[in-house]
Amino acid sequence: MCGIVGAVSQRNVEKILLEGLKRLEYRGYDSAGMALVHNQKFLINKAVGKVSALAELVQQSNISGKTGIAHTRWATHGIPSQNNAHPHTSENISIVHNGIIENYKELRSELIELGYVFLSETDTEAVVHLFHYHYKQTHDLMLSLQQTIKKLQGAYGLVVMCENEPDTILGTRSGSPLVVGIGIDENFLASDQLALRQVTDRFIYLEEGDVVKLRSNSIDIFDQSFSPVVREEVVISDVHDAADKDGFRHYMLKEIFEQPEAIARTLDGRISHESVVQDLLGEEARTVLSQVTQVQIVACGTSYHAGLIAKYAIEEWAGIPCLVDIASEYRYRKVIVPDNALFISISQSGETADTLAALRKAKASGYLSSLAICNVPNSSLVRESAFSLMTCAGVEIGVASTKAFTTQIVALQLVALMLAEKRKEEHKSIVQALHQLPDYCQRVLELNDRIEKISEHFVEKHHALFLGRGVQYPVAMEGALKLKEISYIHAEAYAAGELKHGPLALVDSDMPVITVAPNNELLEKLKSNLEEVQARGGKLYVFADQSAGFSEDANTQVFNLPHVPACIAPIIYTLPLQLLSYHVAVMRGTDVDQPRNLAKSVTVE
Ligand code: M6R
Repeated sequence: MCGIVGAVSQRNVEKILLEGLKRLEYRGYDSAGMALVHNQKFLINKAVGKVSALAELVQQSNISGKTGIAHTRWATHGIPSQNNAHPHTSENISIVHNGIIENYKELRSELIELGYVFLSETDTEAVVHLFHYHYKQTHDLMLSLQQTIKKLQGAYGLVVMCENEPDTILGTRSGSPLVVGIGIDENFLASDQLALRQVTDRFIYLEEGDVVKLRSNSIDIFDQSFSPVVREEVVISDVHDAADKDGFRHYMLKEIFEQPEAIARTLDGRISHESVVQDLLGEEARTVLSQVTQVQIVACGTSYHAGLIAKYAIEEWAGIPCLVDIASEYRYRKVIVPDNALFISISQSGETADTLAALRKAKASGYLSSLAICNVPNSSLVRESAFSLMTCAGVEIGVASTKAFTTQIVALQLVALMLAEKRKEEHKSIVQALHQLPDYCQRVLELNDRIEKISEHFVEKHHALFLGRGVQYPVAMEGALKLKEISYIHAEAYAAGELKHGPLALVDSDMPVITVAPNNELLEKLKSNLEEVQARGGKLYVFADQSAGFSEDANTQVFNLPHVPACIAPIIYTLPLQLLSYHVAVMRGTDVDQPRNLAKSVTVE
């Protein structure tokens, strides 16, 4: 989704801005632009496509400046084009914007009445003209920003620059993240701290409604009532540079192979030999968790699948009923909140608009408390939840979520164990299995070469079915999501028992059917379902427990996985499906890390 970088310095900033945009590429975008101010005049370049195209333009035009703003745009209003790319300019004002202005049509009509001419189809252009209108009257940047945002409805992270005041940039956020990067004789703004890691490790996360005035040697922050505030400075010491592929061809493959390590980090210090550390979330949380009699989980996409898997653990281990909803549905439905219900949100980024809106609704709906499972410290979801349990996946760059997903499952299992405090005697075997999980993952990743070979079978396919039963059904759902999002093959997941209620009609020799088959109490039922596929000439790809007794034939490929304890099977069976999607996508020549039309962090509704 859109990305923002801004800088005000005593040195030229064009290279810093371009590097910042490059670091935001993983979020997904379709055009990029940059405005510098030099001798009180804007120098603007915009390009459709990649940041490298913008970098070429900047180099050819040989421009530089000590203050600048830059943007990667993910089209919402209007096609990807130079005119629609940011920054948008109104005479001496230039703006970049993340989010969606819902009342832009009304604003646009009013501004046209006032004589403004629109050159783009974007909602942002209404904001820049509105700002210009106020600045013309007041000649005061802060006042103009205050008057402008009063009229905006929707979500925004905005950064503003003015030709007349070239040593200043302004920023504000409402529903879209913005972080200040603190330098020496220079300061920065970005929608994600990752964009600024090459220039600083000191950050201030702006809060909802905050406004900031940035100069090279000063940072003034005001809250939503425009009173000066001091926000905490955070130093990020993580030296890991996520922008490095470590010799892997794609970030996605690197992130798949990082899973044993990421899972080990997520467990580190949180489980003893036999049990979960009950004070993991602090003493207050422990008291809250002991009162919980119902759980509501809300999330989007892959994170939603992690929630579906967690439901099994929470209900089985803790004996507590658990509902799981898609955030965009939950936020608009009538919700009945029982007494002592815990609200859990799950998000890799912690900035997903629908998940955040669901949390805000939940906070107003009488839940006992809220808990965020998240991969990004200081994200909006973490800051707005009563408690948070971080996944320690490390920065995930590939749009297709892999290590974030498996670490979410692990973190949710820890929550399930905390909720099951009264049944402590059952914890031992689960905890011991969790200790073994990184090693098992490592073993499963050794299937990579064989999965790569078999991926050739899928290159010409247009459809695929994924089957699973019980907790493996959401694993199959996640497998189907992975395949469709990066290879663009239409893929559906079904609970295998549902096959004969409709989807069996699709099965013929051209339909690959991918199945996950651990050796559990549902294995024999699953085998019967698979016979229904075989009888109709379907091509089966079975990822099965080595002791499950599957044999290969012309229409059946079997991949043997180690026999693992049931509680870790959802993670173990996810890995081969990730590898399969990855290799199919590579063979089909898609943009694996930045699939078309998708964004890493979906900060608009
Ligand atoms: O950052 P979040 O976990 O809230 O993101 C939710 C979804 O947008 C995300 O999981 C999406 O489905 C992934 N691209 C799937 O790989």
